[in-house]
Amino acid sequence: MSNITLAPVQTDQPSHLMATYGRQPISFVRGQGSYLYTEDGTAYLDALTGIAVCGLGHAHPVIAQAIAEQAQTLVHTSNLFEIPWQTAAAQKLAEVSGMEEIFFSNSGAESNEGAIKIARKYGHQQGIQLPKIIVAEHSFHGRTLATLSATGNTKVQEGFAPLVEGFLRVPFGDIEAIQELALAHPDIVAILVEPIQGEGGVNTAPQGFSYLEEIRQICNQHQWLMMLDEVQTGNGRTGKFFAYQHTNIVPDVLTTAKGLGNGFPIGAVMTQGRAVGVLQAGNHGSTYGGTALGSRVVYTVLDILQKENIVENAGKIGQYIVDQLRSQLSGLNVTVRGFGMMIGIELPKACGALVNIAREQKQLIINVTAGNVVRLLPALNMTQEQADDLIQRLVPLIKDFLHN
Ligand SMILES: Cc1ncc(COP(=O)(O)O)c(C=O)c1O
Repeated sequence: MSNITLAPVQTDQPSHLMATYGRQPISFVRGQGSYLYTEDGTAYLDALTGIAVCGLGHAHPVIAQAIAEQAQTLVHTSNLFEIPWQTAAAQKLAEVSGMEEIFFSNSGAESNEGAIKIARKYGHQQGIQLPKIIVAEHSFHGRTLATLSATGNTKVQEGFAPLVEGFLRVPFGDIEAIQELALAHPDIVAILVEPIQGEGGVNTAPQGFSYLEEIRQICNQHQWLMMLDEVQTGNGRTGKFFAYQHTNIVPDVLTTAKGLGNGFPIGAVMTQGRAVGVLQAGNHGSTYGGTALGSRVVYTVLDILQKENIVENAGKIGQYIVDQLRSQLSGLNVTVRGFGMMIGIELPKACGALVNIAREQKQLIINVTAGNVVRLLPALNMTQEQADDLIQRLVPLIKDFLHN
């Protein structure tokens, strides 16, 4: 611990942070793989990984080395110049995603902003003055004005009217609702959905991933852009590099972030098919998007995911956790949904309190979303032993919670 430089917080002074988060009363000073450590050395099993971000675990030595080397060489020039690490990262991302063009941004919301801009420009190219995008109920696309307007959660939107126009909402999974909108609105240009709604409760559509195939068909029929938000589901999280790879379709526009940088803030909006070439010089930009440092991190993350079969591990260990939870929680009116290392345990009652109970009683970091869904987003390279550790900490907590 002696080599850790702690933040020089002046505890006798007030915090100057905006109160945008209800924070848990704990801080971690270091991490290692699937574990986080407080200053006194207590280890916590991290089944949240910074909300689906640190897919390769904390302080991954190869990523740490890549960051250190690049920081000592060249952090940032500008997108006014060629950036070889950005070109290499784009080649790697295209290879694992099947997409053609890539624009690097700095976050998930920003990647979705890029997608929304692509849809609008695509519409304008066809002479549609007020292009509309279909989005889903219970979705989450970010906190910028356009992405919170696209989000299907009024709590996120409250207080920020006037919202950005141009979004039409349908229940998640409801193909008929999309078809009805198609008849009523000749100005629709795109559909934007998450393959699995993360914040919304780890939900697939009722018909499963075939929803994506149905959307693909409708988009082809109407020449709309099929746009998938894989900010949370991307980069190996669900046991495939991207969740749509559980199907045979490819979207026209794909967004990602979170696991792409394993904690380094970087995202991407990608195109293929009819979305290629929509954005041209001068249409979009970002000072920081795709710096030499960020791009080298992306390249390194994807390279490790590929070479060490970590995506397969996420699928296998994720399924193991789901199977164990299903059998150990059977008879308790609990539904376990799992896709690789994106796991939701829906309880019959609100369970936000479990977050503090798990941390305080079991040194276990979990999340609760949609009120009654325990969400697990462990590291993709978690071992079976660590998975057993997770299950042994979590199952008795849920049982006790449901019996009280
Ligand atoms: C599906 C999805 N889209 C977009 C976002 C926003 O990403 P960011 O917080 O990086 O802007 C999130 C974040 O949770 C997300 O889960």
